[in-house]
Amino acid sequence: MADYAALVQPDRVHSAVFTSEDIYKDELEKIFYRYWVYVAHESEIPRPGDYCTKWIGEKQLIVSRAADGSIGIFFNRCRHRGAAVCMDEYGNANFFRCPYHGWTYNSAGDLVGVPYPSRYGEGFDKSTLGLARVPRVDTSAGFIFASMAPDGPPLAEHLGKAAGFLADFVKASPLGTVSLSAGTSKSAFWGNWKFVGMDGYHTNFTHKTVLDLRQRKAGASYNRGAGNSDKSANESWDLGNGHCRLDLTGRDKVAIGAASNTSIAAGIPDNADGHEYMRLMSEAYGDGAHEVIRRSRDVHIHVWPNLQLIGSQVRVIRPLAAGHTEVMSYPAMLDGVPDSINTERIRSFEWFSGVASFGTPDDTEVFERNQIGLRADYIPWLVLARGLTVAPQEDGSTVGNVTDEVPQRAQMKAWLRSMTSPEVS
Ligand code: FES
Ligand SMILES: [Fe+2]
Repeated sequence: MADYAALVQPDRVHSAVFTSEDIYKDELEKIFYRYWVYVAHESEIPRPGDYCTKWIGEKQLIVSRAADGSIGIFFNRCRHRGAAVCMDEYGNANFFRCPYHGWTYNSAGDLVGVPYPSRYGEGFDKSTLGLARVPRVDTSAGFIFASMAPDGPPLAEHLGKAAGFLADFVKASPLGTVSLSAGTSKSAFWGNWKFVGMDGYHTNFTHKTVLDLRQRKAGASYNRGAGNSDKSANESWDLGNGHCRLDLTGRDKVAIGAASNTSIAAGIPDNADGHEYMRLMSEAYGDGAHEVIRRSRDVHIHVWPNLQLIGSQVRVIRPLAAGHTEVMSYPAMLDGVPDSINTERIRSFEWFSGVASFGTPDDTEVFERNQIGLRADYIPWLVLARGLTVAPQEDGSTVGNVTDEVPQRAQMKAWLRSMTSPEVS
């Protein structure tokens, strides 16, 4: 077993944390197969009988809504000889029938049918052979999380200060709910899953193309890159438990130009649909509607270990190997708004976040270069010392300049705790 405390120090991290296959396997056991992990969104299975298949690490799951409306998460493994019983990404059915020998389960996971049962002995008890259930499932603002540990802190305790941002995110809808109904942008890259973090230091360099485009749109008034520098009023936050965020609202104070908003949120158009949206929001949230919209638009958070909410985007991270990661992204549609408001959110998503956008491919390229670089480990340390001296605030959050490595240190702290603690804590 690696000496994790020696690999993760306050100001630096050893490259083995990102390149070792043994550490990757241990991460699956200690983090993904123990702690609360985001799995799916309620809107993906709205009706009884709806199901979808998802993954935690290498284990495939069925997320199912039973006839009584409750949500169950099952391991996708027949209790007979282990075949995956469901291979569809999404569907609606009363039963899951195993393709191998026909054992049949209902949407609550109970084994309800076994072909030719007379050849099983008397002690054969179907009631003990339902699909194995992930022991703990809970939701926050419609986001479904699971923990494979039967005991441990409840979801609300794990989420802590992050829960407020999940709630903010969905309030861009006057109904307070969003739907992941506009499809999925699927991608994978040859790099470690922990590269997908909250990094306010890379923007001016990795996203030069985006800045060039914004500059072209905004003209000479555009104060290029000021919001992503050490002079910026923007901030990086450690929210505790590995959750972290960027607060980009400081951009308003440094006048970097209106076009800077385009990547993180769909604007509200000055037309009939825009006015109708504002009317619905005012009806729902009263005088606070503008503030509700601003807060939702500014959500830029990583919920440790595998969920990110950025503007209109939900992003889910899955490790496939030490140097291989899958990223699923979903534009979150607002429930109860005119169609064109959601169309605009999709356009915004496509602009920066989709697999063929102006933003994400540059991130992916850098992550792959990062993995290549880390393998050349003659000197194996990564420096995470930016803003190391910022002290925690009274509520336990640590807040640094947007370019500080506050989020990276927050995540490595949570990582070290998970990897070294014998219990879920
Ligand atoms: S493995 Fe599923 S019925 Fe045999
Ligand atoms: Fe980026």
